[in-house]
Amino acid sequence: MRFPEDVPVLTDDVVTLRAHIAADVEPAYRMCQDPVMQKWTTIPVPYLHEHAVGYLTEVIPAGWRANTSWAWAIEYAGEYAGTVDLRDGEGGVGEVGFAVSPEVRGNGVMTRALRLVVRYAFDVLDWNRVIWRAYVGNFASRRVAWKAGFHGLVTIPDGGRSRGVRKDEWVATVGRDDELEPKGTWWTVPVVEGEGIRLRPLRESDAQRVMEACNDERTQHWLAGMPSPYDLDGAKEFISSRADAAASGDAVSWAIADAETDELLGNVSVFGMSSRLDGTRGEIGYWMHPEARGRKVMTTAVQLAIAHAFRPVEDGGLGRHRLVVRCADVNTASAHVAEVNGFTKVGDERRADPRRDGSYDNLLTYDLLATDLLSDDLLGG
Ligand SMILES: CC(C)(COP(=O)(O)OP(=O)(O)OC[C@H]1O[C@@H](n2cnc3c(N)ncnc32)[C@H](O)[C@@H]1OP(=O)(O)O)[C@@H](O)C(=O)NCCC(=O)NCCS
Repeated sequence: MRFPEDVPVLTDDVVTLRAHIAADVEPAYRMCQDPVMQKWTTIPVPYLHEHAVGYLTEVIPAGWRANTSWAWAIEYAGEYAGTVDLRDGEGGVGEVGFAVSPEVRGNGVMTRALRLVVRYAFDVLDWNRVIWRAYVGNFASRRVAWKAGFHGLVTIPDGGRSRGVRKDEWVATVGRDDELEPKGTWWTVPVVEGEGIRLRPLRESDAQRVMEACNDERTQHWLAGMPSPYDLDGAKEFISSRADAAASGDAVSWAIADAETDELLGNVSVFGMSSRLDGTRGEIGYWMHPEARGRKVMTTAVQLAIAHAFRPVEDGGLGRHRLVVRCADVNTASAHVAEVNGFTKVGDERRADPRRDGSYDNLLTYDLLATDLLSDDLLGG
């Protein structure tokens, strides 16, 4: 192929993909100064002007001429907005890579550009599958890939390489016959308020409070699967695992925070929602920071979680029909939270809940059906 004459222009009328031109070097160089860009991609750091010149005027044209990689400039609102490329298409399977400049992010530009190149890969390059890879934690990239139909996400420990350092990597793919639309649910974690508390997404700055709550003797006793001791890294891992659980459709997990100070008081989750067969059940789990116990905070938090869980998906809820709570029969505080929220005890499994010392407690199951809640106020009005 000749460059730039043979580079096809792809457009959906909002975003246009075209051959790079000399005038793109400056904005591409500026984009690569962005710390987010440097964190999530393999570009050289520090990123020099000559890197942009070399990539745009030598590497990209060479790829087109040799028919080994295909990179387009992303144009949005008449300006260069980023670059997207396809590469390594041997055997009909290849990879996609992309970046847009910070000013245009969050407008759906990348999702549009990604759909255009994936279609090109299938229709013109005759690929059967496109692979997306990102370092673990790059949720913006994961969301773009998810919106464009990539699915079957797996994590490969140390699968990625960044300037000589190995990093855990996410990989997902989209096939020729797939629709370029989301597969599976990505839950959002809404902010919900009531009776002096706020349910909100967990954030990194909660790590210290999470660590304190999870190191507490009673939390450690009843939630015996937790790491022990529970350190700050464990708390950070827990917080990022909750974002992952929402993205994979499994769980919505909130920080229970004081409505005034926003300080974390505990955690409540609706989880176990990724079954392909049954999209109507969920389990509620919780723990409380020791300083916040005994004030009915968890009772209120669970009430708010129930209301969100039973609300139909089209109204922004989780569309659940049946919720369960499980706890050891001797964990009276936890059983109380379920009972005062209207749950019915439906199971008592003998010696089913292991403790750290090798002993077992009986495990109670409580359930609550959406149809049990005739009273409007339990559903939040
Ligand atoms: C990844 C990137 C290309 C996305 O570009 P973009 O134009 O903002 O993408 P879109 O607007 O099409 O979609 C981004 C989505 O991610 C969401 N998002 C952004 N940050 C997020 C986060 N931390 N957690 C969850 N979702 C996030 C946005 O809300 C948006 O979703 P929505 O439209 O449903 O609200 C851009 O962030 C970027 O250039 N990052 C640096 C380079 C990079 O990471 N490249 C990919 C390497 S694998």
